[in-house]
Amino acid sequence: MLAETALANLPRDRMIVALDFSSVGQAEKMVETLGDSVVFYKIGLELAYGGGLGLAERLIAAGKQVFLDLKLHDIPNTVERAAAQVGQIGASLLTVHAYPQTMRAARKALLGSNTKILAVTVMTSYDDADLSEAGYALGVSDLVARRALQAREIGIEGLILSAEEVAAMRALVGPEMLLVTPGIRPAGDAVGDQKRVVTPAAAIRAGADHLVIGRPVTQSADPWRAAQAITEEIAGALR
Ligand code: C5P
Repeated sequence: MLAETALANLPRDRMIVALDFSSVGQAEKMVETLGDSVVFYKIGLELAYGGGLGLAERLIAAGKQVFLDLKLHDIPNTVERAAAQVGQIGASLLTVHAYPQTMRAARKALLGSNTKILAVTVMTSYDDADLSEAGYALGVSDLVARRALQAREIGIEGLILSAEEVAAMRALVGPEMLLVTPGIRPAGDAVGDQKRVVTPAAAIRAGADHLVIGRPVTQSADPWRAAQAITEEIAGALR
């Protein structure tokens, strides 16, 4: 099962720290501060467009795992070629939007690769009214369920979803898919702009494989200690 995969075999591997910085210099400084307390980093669009893909290669060369949160979506030929490039970088995880054409193209490019694909079902910033405005007939929960099952059918390895959705999604898709969730806050931490948050232990107990954690670590007065504390909380939840 998932706990035994190479991606998620130790409590420390369950935590993915989001490097939400505008410059590679700031991100590198944070990586240096965190040292061995963090083994898995997420690089999203902001940093990717600011030189972050080079940083991804350096992190991987230094033995870290990297989640490239690039949310690919384009015509199949372009998605396939872009996903193949991400495979060359050696990232462990890549996000694509959960459109069947897009998922099939990424699947084709990364068959046999060590880069696992995560599908973004419906962005959590969307509610039913936003979907209707965009021309969809389904509401959020129906569209999330439909796309999650399509992702599984196409052979996508995992889903990115809000912490609140983890238990229901685990029940829907079964034990094999990787469930990766942001919106995590250790008890007592500032919630910031996240509206619905879950503690690391609760997310793991609900069936999450990896937790994406940004500000609770990177904006902490002592990032190394914050990362250690979260790993300990994850370890407690796994016992
Ligand atoms: O700082 P914080 O822990 O809230 O960061 C969470 C990370 O997960 C950020 O990189 C954010 O962009 C990402 N994310 C999120 N909510 C989603 C999808 C992605 O917070 N629904």
